[in-house]
Amino acid sequence: EKGGFEHFMLKEIHEQPKALRDTMASRIAHDLSINLHDLDDIDIEKAGKLFIVACGTAYHAGVVGKYLIERMARLPVEVDIASEFRYRQPIISKGDLAIVISQSGETADTLAALRELKRQGATVIAIANVVGSTITREANKVLYTWAGPEIAVASTKAYTTQLLVITMIALYMAKRRGAMKQRNIDDIVSDIIKLPDKAQSILNGKEAVQHYAAQHFSAHSIFFIGRGLDYALAMEGSLKLKEISYIHSEAYAAGELKHGTIALIEPGTLVVALATQPELFDKMLSNIKEVKARGAVVMAVVQEGNTAIEDVADYVIYLPDTSSWLVPMLGVIPLQLFAYYTALYKGCDVDKPRNLAKSVTVE
Ligand code: M6R
Repeated sequence: EKGGFEHFMLKEIHEQPKALRDTMASRIAHDLSINLHDLDDIDIEKAGKLFIVACGTAYHAGVVGKYLIERMARLPVEVDIASEFRYRQPIISKGDLAIVISQSGETADTLAALRELKRQGATVIAIANVVGSTITREANKVLYTWAGPEIAVASTKAYTTQLLVITMIALYMAKRRGAMKQRNIDDIVSDIIKLPDKAQSILNGKEAVQHYAAQHFSAHSIFFIGRGLDYALAMEGSLKLKEISYIHSEAYAAGELKHGTIALIEPGTLVVALATQPELFDKMLSNIKEVKARGAVVMAVVQEGNTAIEDVADYVIYLPDTSSWLVPMLGVIPLQLFAYYTALYKGCDVDKPRNLAKSVTVE
């Protein structure tokens, strides 16, 4: 049942090219148009605000979604952790839109947030993986991630496909709101089509990541830093590592380091620096120099060709070139592999980490 892999998590990491292909299959036409016809009757042009609500990894996909929807469709987005959203008395107006994201479709906090959103008149779109789950039955609209069953507690292929669906939503909304030129939308869609092959090429080079994990699995604390979409990705990399390897880890917005966290950097501390966003690259280089000056060991993740990073980082993971909007779908793969191998070398129960359940149906 594990298809020759030692763990479900490793199998599911390797299923990402197929999961991405299946999730885009019926939604991208030959002329590169995005087919999300289920959303055609929603008044996206006039919407004032969009809420994104989810937990854990699905929340991290939501944070990426906020960046994409605001920047592509120019629609204000609030993104919340479901258990926080319910109790902060959010200001929701009739006609507002909402996206709830859940692999299982059964997470209690996400379901409660969905009910609150509907009660206050928002139209709720669910992004879910399990067909017929409670959240899919209660939402106004459902867009499935066709990732297939996800067994490992650590979410992997659900996240990449959630990102893909939310990227397609952002482009679809950008078009309906006239916020992007058709040519720019088409360029991104043609890059989306190439993602499964690029994901495969990262998997083919997994030994390098395995090697870095072998060197650092006894770390006491690991930091993930990034800016913009890379900060959103840092959160996911950090969660993946801590939940299965039990190594203390934090994700930090790189520019925020010197407002506190840099005090924790000691000689030898591993910092995973995500620097995939061209307009933020120089700023990231300065942040990397700051942590290096305190003795950190830096593993950098950058887009292909950015060799300037080699002057400052100790190890570099190069991602296949793609539109900067799409990078998290590729960039997460080395982070998943890093978490996996670190947990493996530590002898942890990778598929069933302590204290965690696959689906959290209590509040
Ligand atoms: O089924 P859901 O997507 O609603 O689950 C949300 C979280 O419980 C889940 O993503 C959790 O954080 C994972 N263990 C992360 O790997």
